[in-house]
Amino acid sequence: MLIDERNRLVTQTGSGTPTGELLRRYWIPFLLSEEVAENGGPPVRVTLLSEHLLAFRDSEGRLGLIEQFCAHRRVSLWFGRNEEGGIRCPYHGWKFDVTGKCLEIPSEPPDSTFCDEVGLTAYPCVERGGIIWAYMGPPAEQPPPPAFEWTTVPADQRFHSKRLEECNYLQALEGGIDSSHVAFLHSGELRSDPLHHGSKGSDYHLSDLTPKFEIKESPGGLNIGVRRNAGDEKYYWRITPWIMPWYTIVPPYGDNPLHGHAWVPIDDENCFAWTFSYHPSRPLNELELGVMHDGGSLHVQLMPGTFRPKANKDNDYLMDRAAQKAGTSFSGVKGIALQDASLQESMGPVQDRARENLVMTDKAIFMARRRLHDAARDLEKGERPPGLEEGAQAVRSASFELPREIAFDEAPDEPMKVKKGVAHTSI
Ligand code: FES
Ligand SMILES: [Fe+2]
Repeated sequence: MLIDERNRLVTQTGSGTPTGELLRRYWIPFLLSEEVAENGGPPVRVTLLSEHLLAFRDSEGRLGLIEQFCAHRRVSLWFGRNEEGGIRCPYHGWKFDVTGKCLEIPSEPPDSTFCDEVGLTAYPCVERGGIIWAYMGPPAEQPPPPAFEWTTVPADQRFHSKRLEECNYLQALEGGIDSSHVAFLHSGELRSDPLHHGSKGSDYHLSDLTPKFEIKESPGGLNIGVRRNAGDEKYYWRITPWIMPWYTIVPPYGDNPLHGHAWVPIDDENCFAWTFSYHPSRPLNELELGVMHDGGSLHVQLMPGTFRPKANKDNDYLMDRAAQKAGTSFSGVKGIALQDASLQESMGPVQDRARENLVMTDKAIFMARRRLHDAARDLEKGERPPGLEEGAQAVRSASFELPREIAFDEAPDEPMKVKKGVAHTSI
């Protein structure tokens, strides 16, 4: 249970709020590269942490993320012309570059210097792993570029997607930390999804519904260990890293790809749920790519031209009561991602955490909330947030068997550490 003041603190992300300032210290994934594929191509409206922005790739290929509204009379620059070296407002022709600098005010006399006095807020961008990331914090505090493994593997080893989720980022993120729902909500998919079923891990998973949780603090967040019995002498472990501020990596099954997630606030009542699928040591095969392109596995089918899922709250997520009754689907909603989204959105735009009743299996959620809360408060005192360094980001999820007397974080060969080009540890 979280009292109102603490709930507000960790769910409000606008500029000037403690958590909003914390989130602005990280590189934020906000566009797929393909959304601004072309130099001088169409700009894209972006709302990020409640700020209304415009992304574009200029004629030189430089990426810009600038305030969306023209410095003159505040029309949306989405209508602008992406010209040589900048974007020109279609109303009276003022022109701005990717840094927000005003390049030209055509109506001013030639000797006017007014152009130098006006400009737009702009945030630096980097492109890594087919994703465009922005940094919205103080320039002097800009961290090194993102180093998650899905940003470093070759292009044929990855597939990324994003979808709109119509709720606060935190309750969506908490779903990624909450490993105890998997054997219930997603039990149908553990049996049937081609990228999940048939591994030793999914058999262990389905045969033990009372797993034990062990959570350890890590430099960048938490390692959430879940153990199940694997015969009389071993445990089967599944480890989910949570990396500040909103990343999780789903523990793998067999040789299937890994999947990272991020839940990035659009505003306080909507977020983008990202899924980063990748294999550390081989290209994704035809079956895997086919399933992912089709909106299977952890991806979803989207309404054409949008990032809103086809199954959404307006059509009750295409709930199938017959499948629910027959038990082929535990919830009746199809697909892992939409099973999660349907329930997280059902909590309302911002979950009322004063009315919940947490149990032992919610320990990781409790610890993650506290870590976010403390990091926001510590930042106010000038402390650098955790999770900004490569060492905190270059980690993996893992699943393995281990003799019962060995702690999961003492497993041989550091299964949670990224080893470039070497397959992940998974059964
Ligand atoms: S409003 Fe943009 S140039 Fe006038
Ligand atoms: Fe889930």
